[in-house]
Amino acid sequence: MENHITIALPKGKLFKTSVKLLGMAGYSAENVTEDSRKLVIVNDKTKVRFIIAKTVDLPTYVEYGAADIGIIGKDVLLEEKKDVVELLDLGFGRCRLMLAVPEHIQKHRLTDYAHLRVATKYPNCAKEYFNSLGIQTEIVKLNGSIELGPIVGLSELIVDIVETGRTLKENHLVEVDSIFTATARLIANRASFKLKFERLHKLTEDLREILNKGE
Ligand code: PRP
Repeated sequence: MENHITIALPKGKLFKTSVKLLGMAGYSAENVTEDSRKLVIVNDKTKVRFIIAKTVDLPTYVEYGAADIGIIGKDVLLEEKKDVVELLDLGFGRCRLMLAVPEHIQKHRLTDYAHLRVATKYPNCAKEYFNSLGIQTEIVKLNGSIELGPIVGLSELIVDIVETGRTLKENHLVEVDSIFTATARLIANRASFKLKFERLHKLTEDLREILNKGE
């Protein structure tokens, strides 16, 4: 497998576009589907190996060199803080990390939310955000369905990803502040980027060209 490059693909919302984009750049393999039971798919012709990873773990695979490159949201990179090289902003998967609250507890100032409980999948980003504002809160880490927190009284606030805004609306939550905007990024393992520079550089430039043409 030394001559192969290993690409980590994220399960979830970024999966389909990632596979499509890599395919356009000539990196494809048969049966690369999200519901595939096979977690490793090899194409010996183009010398590519795909691994399918849970989004939150993907930067770890790349940091340790289990994958040479990967595609992952900037939100996950900011939360996980892994030592990887960010090669390219792929532009898709745009979303915002938001502070949101139930309509009925909406306050005038952000400081009025002090000492409340916040449910989030992004505890590090949430902590940094509230610290930067000098607001003390209690952060509760959840792994999904964050909007449930305020409904069942687990928390008053949530810090979560908003894409279309549909989930917030359906759960009677309103956006209060935007923490950052994120898009999908192409990332690489530091050592791989040096050792397999030519191939990884070519892939990056090919993807850049495809994205530029699509604009
Ligand atoms: C994300 C996020 C919101 C939802 C936002 O959840 O945590 O729940 O998408 O999207 P929208 O603004 O388009 O409604 P995801 O679907 O990844 O599942 P999870 O809540 O189980 O993490």
